[in-house]
Amino acid sequence: MSLTMSSRMSISPGVPSAQDESPLPSSPPPTTLPLRTIPGSYGWPLLGPISDRLDYFWFQGPEKFFRKRIEKYKSTVFRTNVPPSFPFFRNVNPNVVAVLDTKSFAHLFDMEIVEKRNVLVGDFVPSVKFTGDVRVCAYLDTSEPEHSKLKNFAMDILKRSSKTWVSEVLGNLDTMWDTIESNISKSGSASYIVPLQKFIFKFLTKSLVGADPSSSPDIAESGYIMLDRWLALQLLPTVKIGILQPLEEIFLHSWAYPFLLVSGDYRKLYEFVRKEGKEVLRRGETEFGLSSEETIHNLLFVLGFNAFGGFSVFLPSLVSTIASDTTGLQEKIRQEVREKGGSTLNFDSVKEMELVLSVVYEVLRLNPPVPLQYARARKDFQLRSHDSVYDIKKGELLCGYQTLVMRDPKVFEEPESFRPDRFMNSNGSELLSYLYWSNGPQTGSPSVSNKQCAAKDYVVLTAAMFIAYAFRRYDSITGDSSSITAVEKAN
Ligand code: HEM
Repeated sequence: MSLTMSSRMSISPGVPSAQDESPLPSSPPPTTLPLRTIPGSYGWPLLGPISDRLDYFWFQGPEKFFRKRIEKYKSTVFRTNVPPSFPFFRNVNPNVVAVLDTKSFAHLFDMEIVEKRNVLVGDFVPSVKFTGDVRVCAYLDTSEPEHSKLKNFAMDILKRSSKTWVSEVLGNLDTMWDTIESNISKSGSASYIVPLQKFIFKFLTKSLVGADPSSSPDIAESGYIMLDRWLALQLLPTVKIGILQPLEEIFLHSWAYPFLLVSGDYRKLYEFVRKEGKEVLRRGETEFGLSSEETIHNLLFVLGFNAFGGFSVFLPSLVSTIASDTTGLQEKIRQEVREKGGSTLNFDSVKEMELVLSVVYEVLRLNPPVPLQYARARKDFQLRSHDSVYDIKKGELLCGYQTLVMRDPKVFEEPESFRPDRFMNSNGSELLSYLYWSNGPQTGSPSVSNKQCAAKDYVVLTAAMFIAYAFRRYDSITGDSSSITAVEKAN
């Protein structure tokens, strides 16, 4: 599959060339890089993967796991194993080549040299039963004809929903903050996770499916919990939860839990979408040539996994970063959101809010909501890091851990620090080419010839509206990663 001009341009920052390309235009002139054997090993069969799995989930945790190996091999590219592995994941090959700097990571976006078939969460593929025996868009490679149809369908849903999207976000934010305020006045502090997830579920269901959860009492009451359970069962084997060890290893990381445990929930969600989402389903079938089953399961995956899952991870880190800040950031945000954008909030008005957008980007940089990305070599090729070139063989699985890639000291000054204004001004806009949270640079565009998040711009603008709404309503918000302890209403 050949790369189109636009996708080639969109990935320019890390695309390898005959000579080294410096990460930023102001860096020294290009030099030829040395060819290096990829350091690291997969260890003894069974023992290597188990030892790496225990480090990853238990003794080190993902961040330290990758950091320690960068130090050990003095390289941001190395061989290692990532979970899940033995005993009950015999068909999963844990061997990967880790790519942990901005330049080597960017190879994951070049669809000419890598493929993305069934690698959404690595070599492990959750049972296709979770999606009604349909392989949904996120698991398809760009060379599979169904990918184009489904990606176009996803982008069409977003485009058509944009008007409802804004009003649904704002209307449901009213409800969310009313609930939080009333809980603070009753108990002195309010856990915001449940009101936040209800907000996310409701605005997404109304905008993406065109359906009101209130039309089904069961879905209105527990639709978001159904999605949480469905997501958890698919992802458990690959995610560190942080409960008491070795219980987590024994019970959560040793086998995949069956779909049967959530089949009742999924059936209810399916029926709800089938009955209430008629207009979107009709378009899927008539305009994109999808079968009714394919449309419903893909719509449910986009709603539940891509959208609800993504926002459920991202928004708490945004709230927590701002609510716990003690550096005067809230005052600056407050000033900007009240000065700019006129009386109503919408996508156009938040585009004017430079600081708010920069805060959104900086939170995405430091806490990328989907930290791991994978891609398989489509052919033999040479992979470049900042300092070396490595031979990659067709079929090898590349694994990028964004949390470290987004702290690449060759690109980001003081990479570990939260700098709210990092992405402001012209220097800041250049850095957007290195912001990869959406499986592509922030300067790129999702298309059928790449695997970049279909909602790349919606996510950023929605998060900006979320902040702007909060600071038009409040002068200050105090809280942490799970609770709001105080809000001071705007005068
Ligand atoms: C904060 C929220 C979100 C985050 C963090 C996020 C992140 C991502 C990432 C990292 C990928 C690439 C996964 C991979 O291939 O490794 C992706 C793909 C995708 N996302 Fe999002 N996403 C979010 C919201 C949404 C929303 C609201 C939609 C609604 C349409 C959406 C639709 C998609 C689709 C359809 C794909 C698959 C693209 C393809 O197969 O070409 N995402 N997203």
